[in-house]
Parts: sequence; C-alpha cells; structure tokens
Amino acid sequence: MSGDFLPENSIVVGCGAVGLDLLATVAAFPQPDQKIRSTSFKTQGGGNTGNALTCAARLGLKPRIISKIADDTQGRSILDELQTDGVDTSFIVVSKEGTSPFTYIIVDNQTKSRTCIHTPGFPPMKPVDLTESSLLSALNGTKIAYLDGRLHETALMVAHEAVKKNIPILMDAERLREGLDDLIKVVDYVVCAAQFPQASSLFSLEVWTEAATVPKALVSMLLRLPKVKFVIVTLGKDGCIMLERTANEVPSTEEEMDADKLLESLETKKNASVNIPTCISSSVTNLRADGIGTICGKLYIGTAENIPPYELIDTTGAGDAFAGAVLYAICANFATEKMLCFAANVAAAKCRALGARSGLPRYNDQHIASFM
Ligand SMILES: Nc1ncnc2c1ncn2[C@@H]1O[C@H](COP(=O)(O)OP(=O)(O)OP(=O)(O)O)[C@@H](O)[C@H]1O
Ligand SMILES: *[C@@H]1O[C@H](CO)[C@@H](O)[C@H](O)[C@H]1NC(C)=O
Ligand SMILES: *[C@@H]1O[C@H](CO)[C@@H](O)[C@H](O)[C@H]1NC(C)=O
Ligand SMILES: *[C@@H]1O[C@H](CO)[C@@H](O)[C@H](O)[C@H]1NC(C)=O
Repeated sequence: MSGDFLPENSIVVGCGAVGLDLLATVAAFPQPDQKIRSTSFKTQGGGNTGNALTCAARLGLKPRIISKIADDTQGRSILDELQTDGVDTSFIVVSKEGTSPFTYIIVDNQTKSRTCIHTPGFPPMKPVDLTESSLLSALNGTKIAYLDGRLHETALMVAHEAVKKNIPILMDAERLREGLDDLIKVVDYVVCAAQFPQASSLFSLEVWTEAATVPKALVSMLLRLPKVKFVIVTLGKDGCIMLERTANEVPSTEEEMDADKLLESLETKKNASVNIPTCISSSVTNLRADGIGTICGKLYIGTAENIPPYELIDTTGAGDAFAGAVLYAICANFATEKMLCFAANVAAAKCRALGARSGLPRYNDQHIASFM
C-alpha cells in the first residue's frame, strides 16, 4: 500500500445503459455484400453504465446499477455477469415482455476501429419503473453517482435526488446531444469523448459549445455549467485534456492566458520517449477563450499508454474503463495528476483484450499496483 486510503465499501450508484455485446474481430473491414469470417468472437455484457460500474467493482468500489432489461436470454446473461463482478443488480427493472438491449460490434484488426450497431431494449425505462422507495434505498449511503446520459427521464430523477442528498455526480457525456442540457447542468464532473475523427460530428463537443477547439470548448462548458468542477475530454490514443475549475484563486485583475496557447505550451512538454501515461499541468490561471469568456482554472494533458501494436486488441469501452477509474479516484481522493495517470493505465489494460470488460484490471493487478 503506497497510495491513498479508499473508504471501505464505497458505494457508487449508476443509472444508464446495460446490454449484451456480440463482438467479432475481422482481419479487414468488409465491403457491402461481402461474406467474410471472423478471426475471433465473444459475447459479453456491455453498455456504458454496465462497463463503467464493472470497472469500478473490480477496483474495489461497491456499485449499484439502475437500468432496465427484459426477461430473455440476453437479459439473464447481463444480470449473471454483473453479479459475478460484484455489481448489485437489485435495482435493475426486468420487464416480463420485450427484448434486452444488444449491440453488434465489429473490431477491425487493421485499423483497430470498433464499429457498433446498437439495438435499444424494449420497452424503454420510464421514471414510474423506479419507485421512490427503490430510489431512496439505491442512494442510501452512496458516495458518488454516475450517469451515462441514457434513460434520460429516469436519470434526471436520480440526479435530482442525488443533488438533494449532496451526492456528487459524474456524467459520461458520450454524446452531448440536445436534451442532455437539463441533466449536465446538475452534475459535478464530466467526462466526454471528443469524437474528432468522425465526419458526422453533429453531436461533437465543438458543435455543442460552438467553440472551434477543445480548450475553447472546455472554457465554454465551465462557463455554461457553473456547478461543474472539471471536464475531461478523452482523445483515444492521444490521451485526454482536462480543465479543472479553481475557485478564483487568481484575482480576475491578473493577466489572462489564451486557452489554446496554454495547451500548445503544455504540448511542448510531452516526452515522446516515455511509454507510460503521464500528466502535464499548467499553474492556476485565468484562461481566456476569445469571444467566449474567461475561467479561472488549471489545464491538464494526460497522455495515454503507448501500447505496442501486437498488444492492442480492442478499444471498445476504453472510455467506460476510464470513467470507472475516475469514479474510484474521486472516492479515494487521488490528486488530479494521479487520477489521470491511473485512468489511462486502467483504460490501457482494457485495450489489451477483446470486449469492453475482459481486460478490466482488478485492484491487485500489477498493471495498476503502484497507484493502490
Ligand atoms: N489506442 C489506444 N492506446 C492507448 N490508450 C488508449 C487507446 N484508446 C483509448 N485509450 C485510453 O482510453 C481513454 C478513452 O478512450 P477514448 O477517447 O477512445 O474513449 P471513448 O471514445 O469514449 O471509447 P468508448 O466509447 O469505446 O468507451 C483514452 O483517454 C486513453 O487513455
Ligand atoms: C492482426 O494484425 C496484425 C498486424 O497489425 C497481424 O500481425 C495479425 O496476424 C493480425 N491478426 C489477425 C487475426 O488477423
Ligand atoms: C440506509 O442504510 C442503513 C445502513 O445500511 C440502514 O440502517 C437504513 O435503514 C437505510 N435507510 C433506508 C432509508 O433505506
Ligand atoms: C524523456 O524521457 C526519457 C526516458 O525516460 C529520458 O531519458 C529523457 O531525459 C526525457 N527527456 C526530456 C527532455 O525530459
């Protein structure tokens, strides 16, 4: 034991997606109408919340999950897997009729991309599915709540109750689509993916914030969301960028730094010959985004692990692993630098196996031993 103390039985409540993933690895992505064979195949539990809470459970937290499935084969296997990992499934609503959510995932060994075809479950979860007494028992003793932006109406109910009880909320805003505004404005911490490469960036951070760069978008988010303490944008193999709000530690009369220039100056401090995750941070400063505004905060770059190509198997759910590790880091009171390195390590372990969960490390895994 070298690190911080994790309060025993730290309970985390998550509300959002669970499902079944049907994963196939292919040597190269097929053309339309082509018939090909998979090089490997796996059926495994999935869904952002299912994955993030499985990650949290393996690290030592006590997760409870609020979601909905159907009483079918997929549903039973979803429950079995979560229970095996120590996730409390007693708040999952099981519908007598309908189908559980599932996703076809094609992992292309050539490009290392993961293409997902999702089929939502039916019937959808409604707030009436979760009784008030269930909600109160779920939140009883909870250290932190997690939302993935799905099951929007139920999530909003969970969020409002958590706020009432002073339970902090982490949100993984995979897609910052409209309608999530009411949810995101009550949360304390945000993790989101930049979704840079996709041309169809209709849901991207930049469009949502109308800011042209990640640093500008981060300043914009903290200005629009006064409750949010930090936002982390994950960038796949390029790691992450984080902006943390600091309570006006620098007087507003002090000099301002252009947010983009500040990021550029942090980038120059990256050391390309270091393969393990590292963290580079600015001092507390007034960050300015032209045409948007100024925030007093601290900017961080978290680098990703440089995984050798033959060990990089599948990035499905890397963001969920990252978020699950951030949940742990918040409960264990990790310093911000340590949190970003830890989350990158956990996500990198995940990327070494097929599926969102197979590679998720346990608290005693040597890959993360130096943090625990
Ligand atoms: N190819 C990679 N090599 C090393 N680390 C990676 C790689 N891909 C992802 N990661 C790690 O995982 C983190 C999250 O990845 P990413 O930004 O791809 O999340 P995401 O798009 O939300 O993923 P998903 O939606 O599949 O959960 C990154 O910040 C990084 O630390
Ligand atoms: C995956 O790609 C690597 C090269 O990146 C190759 O060596 C390996 O044989 C491929 N595996 C399969 C199963 O196609
Ligand atoms: C909350 O949990 C405590 C300890 O487990 C228990 O004694 C108490 O009855 C619970 N309260 C509610 C409202 O469920
Ligand atoms: C970069 O990292 C390598 C390996 O750890 C180290 O030897 C080197 O001194 C570092 N370079 C700089 C500029 O810090």
